Order: sequence, then C-alpha cells, then structure tokens
Amino acid sequence: MSAKYDSIVDQYVAYAYASPTRPIELRTMLRLAGDLEGRDVLDLACGSGYYGREFLRFGARSAHGVDQSQGMIDFARALSAHRGDGMTFQRNDVMAMPFAGEYSVVLAAYLFNYAQSLDELQRMFAAVLPHLKRDGKLVIQTFNPDYRLALGDYAMYGVKVLEEVPWKQGTRLQLEFPGTPPARIINYRWARDHYEQAILAAGFSRLRWHEPVLLEEDITGRPAGYWEAYVHNCMSVNLVCER
Ligand SMILES: C[S@@+](CC[C@H](N)C(=O)[O-])C[C@H]1O[C@@H](n2cnc3c(N)ncnc32)[C@H](O)[C@@H]1O
Repeated sequence: MSAKYDSIVDQYVAYAYASPTRPIELRTMLRLAGDLEGRDVLDLACGSGYYGREFLRFGARSAHGVDQSQGMIDFARALSAHRGDGMTFQRNDVMAMPFAGEYSVVLAAYLFNYAQSLDELQRMFAAVLPHLKRDGKLVIQTFNPDYRLALGDYAMYGVKVLEEVPWKQGTRLQLEFPGTPPARIINYRWARDHYEQAILAAGFSRLRWHEPVLLEEDITGRPAGYWEAYVHNCMSVNLVCER
C-alpha cells in the first residue's frame, strides 16, 4: 500500500485539495473533536498532512502526522516547511508505531478502510489505542458501510468508484482519482457490526457513529440536487471512539 501511494501523491493531493466534500468532512471532524485549545493532535494516515494542519489552524497546540508512504511524508514535510505551520511528521506503518506519548485527539481519516481483513481491522484499532489519552478521542473518517456503487459512482465528487466485489466478510472496491495518468487504489468496506466488534475487542469502551455535517452554505451556489448522492449514498462516515 505504501508503494501505491508513493506513486500517486500528485493525483491524491490534487483530488483532496479540489474535493467539494472536503470542507464538509473537515467541519465534521472538527465538531467531533471538540475544543482544541491546548490539545496535541496525532494525525494517522496523514497523507499530505491536511487534517493535522487544519486542526493547528483551528487552535490545536501541536500536530504530528504519521503515514507509511515516504512520498506522502516528503510532500507533507515540504508543504509544512513552506507554510511554516510547525506540523511534524514521521514515516511509519500505524500497525508498528513506536510509543511516543498519549494524545488528546487522534485523527484517522481514511486509515481503517485499508484493513484487508477483520483481523487486521481489530489489530489496527488495537495499535492505535495506546496513543490515546484516557479522556481523549479517536476521530475517524472511513469508507461508509452503507455506500453502494449501484446507487452512483461518486465521480461528481472527484473520485470514481470503478467496481465493488465481495471480499472475505466485506467488500473490495477499486477507486480512481483523475489525473495523467489516472490513479487507482483499493479500499475495503466493512459493515457497521464489523467496526463495532473490532473497536470494542481492541479495548475501546465507547463509540458513536456520525454522518457528515452538511449545511445550508454548502447547498448555496450548487445546482439543484448536487448533494443528493452525498446525502443518500455517502462514501464517508465518521466515528468517535473513547477508551
Ligand atoms: C486516502 S489517503 C488519506 C490521507 C489524509 N488522511 C487525507 O484524508 O487527506 C490514505 C493514506 O493512508 C496511508 N496509509 C494506509 N495504510 C496505512 C498504515 N497502515 N499506516 C500508515 N499509513 C497508512 C496511505 O499511505 C495514504 O497516505
């Protein structure tokens, strides 16, 4: 997977920064995290560092990004150096992350959808738990268990689902980001029950599901029906987990 992202940094970053759903996803993650003053943020599967950097802008004391792709980390470091935002980075697989203290807020935007089995899903949650403070929050964005390709391929929101096929107890999806050439990646969709079992078995004691927070201001200026698919067949969903 890391090699995969190394070769598609440009396409992914172009998608992420132009995505019409990003502002909604950021708003949702910020709301779920709550007050950021004096909080240290760990941004797992940070990619370009987008979320950690935005959390700094919205008041976090510090932000540290972890990603297994060297290409993503190089891009993220260069961007933070250019902006002088102070975000720090480390290249690591989340599954084998050395302990370096507990965080009040741990973000994982599009990490758990790379777990290739239910066993890996649980081990991923177990690997994240020690990095979270007792009263901290793990704020997640992941592939929505309820999304179905038959109801729309999502291309209007900047990423196209090419296929979904049964995979173990879940579903394997091929996604495409536009570019020259276009970039394809694989995601895994797990059911709500699968997430809940993995989270509790990993040692978390509470979890809450959340839908993205769409506001009137998102609707203004868009053609009628623009958000129809987003509301009824959304590709992302959020979760908050506590120890
Ligand atoms: C879709 S990108 C999301 C990046 C960022 N969170 C965002 O939303 O813009 C997924 C990222 O997850 C990283 N990733 C996937 N599995 C990982 C793992 N086990 N450990 C660390 N990073 C991982 C990939 O390298 C990639 O950069």
